[in-house]
Amino acid sequence: MTKSQVVFDPFSEEYFNGPWDIYRRMREETPVYYNEAEDFYALSRHEDVSAAYKDFATYSSAYGLDLAMVRSGEPPPMKMIILMDPPEHRHMRSLVNKVFTPRAIEAMRPMVTETIDRYLSAADPTGFDVVQDFSAYFPVDIITTMLGVPEDKRQQVREWVDTSLHREPGQIEMSDEGMAAIAEAMGLYFQLIQERRNEPQDDMFSRLVAAEIQREDGGVESLEDFEIAGFATLLGGAGAETVTKLVGNAVVEFARHPEQWQKLLDDRSKIPAAVEELLRYEPPVHYNVRRSMREVHLHGVTIPEGKPVFLLQASAHRDPDAFTDPDTFDIDRDRTEAQNLGFGYGVHSCLGAALARMETAIALERLLDRMPRYEVLWNQCERVAMQNVAGWSHVPVRVL
Ligand code: HEM
Repeated sequence: MTKSQVVFDPFSEEYFNGPWDIYRRMREETPVYYNEAEDFYALSRHEDVSAAYKDFATYSSAYGLDLAMVRSGEPPPMKMIILMDPPEHRHMRSLVNKVFTPRAIEAMRPMVTETIDRYLSAADPTGFDVVQDFSAYFPVDIITTMLGVPEDKRQQVREWVDTSLHREPGQIEMSDEGMAAIAEAMGLYFQLIQERRNEPQDDMFSRLVAAEIQREDGGVESLEDFEIAGFATLLGGAGAETVTKLVGNAVVEFARHPEQWQKLLDDRSKIPAAVEELLRYEPPVHYNVRRSMREVHLHGVTIPEGKPVFLLQASAHRDPDAFTDPDTFDIDRDRTEAQNLGFGYGVHSCLGAALARMETAIALERLLDRMPRYEVLWNQCERVAMQNVAGWSHVPVRVL
């Protein structure tokens, strides 16, 4: 019997519901996958994905970060750090690094803890939906607080982000509602930046307005309003959806592997290792899309110049050539075996990684206190259908 052809359709119901088997077949049978219908390529082996993340000259970010943008061949309409190649990226990263120093993030710990506690204590102690009642709210609250968005607008930002990322099965382009939501968020940010230029406060908008770097020619560079607004829009999406999904994934995986939850109950010092294993095993970001800037020859396939290439980090994490027993969820695994690509790799590696790790670790700490024993109501769980981010929209639990 001949095997059916592997089909990787990142906008299909089947994909949203868990693509691990598709990834395995891609790694084994077609490591440089070509999707003829949509005219894109995908790399799935750890060695290839990690090398591609590092090789920004061959795999450019400057044409967009999803299929729709990259295949349009046009530079994206918005100026965002994640959509830049070096040297432009290097300048921007130096500027925004100034507001994301380890010290600045550590200084956020009391606010992060207070925000997480506030949302968790509002949830029903006998049973609640971990995503809908908890993890959907606190990350966006934290990032918008850091930025300086007034309290009454913070949840509105989350709704705008959700609308812009949502995709129906089969839908590749952003919807009109999604575009409108981004425009509304940008409008709010422009207004706040103007206010901070006139009257600086103790927030990230004010620090971004004030941030300067010395150029090689001796001149000084700072950020324009539209660059700050673009950055804030990016942070809203990057900082909110991902942590939401990681915490939802955590509760699902620990319910499936109660012996791993027990390890954390016995020894809280394992929480940071658990966060890393969650990022490996069920990463909220499954892939980033790049554009090939030259012809690439790999595993007998030629990727022409100018094509969208999916870098499937989630597949790379399950590559047996990189990790021993990759399909086993084990918070004690040897993390030095291979690079964890959960926060990306290379020049674009996640700017918010320290914040994300802190938020997730505190959330796990509080969930261990709140629900040392719990069960997931599996028949009421639902997955999200979103661009790039994978995970659950509904994870109801009963506390035992
Ligand atoms: C578990 C949570 C998170 C995950 C899994 C995650 C994942 C990622 C990944 C995979 C990239 C690389 C994108 C690429 O190479 O094209 C990235 C970049 C980025 N992330 Fe995160 N992220 C998380 C949380 C956050 C948070 C909390 C923030 C900010 C508050 C943030 C801000 C950013 C920014 C600004 C970039 C772009 C960096 C650049 O282009 O130089 N992320 N993230």
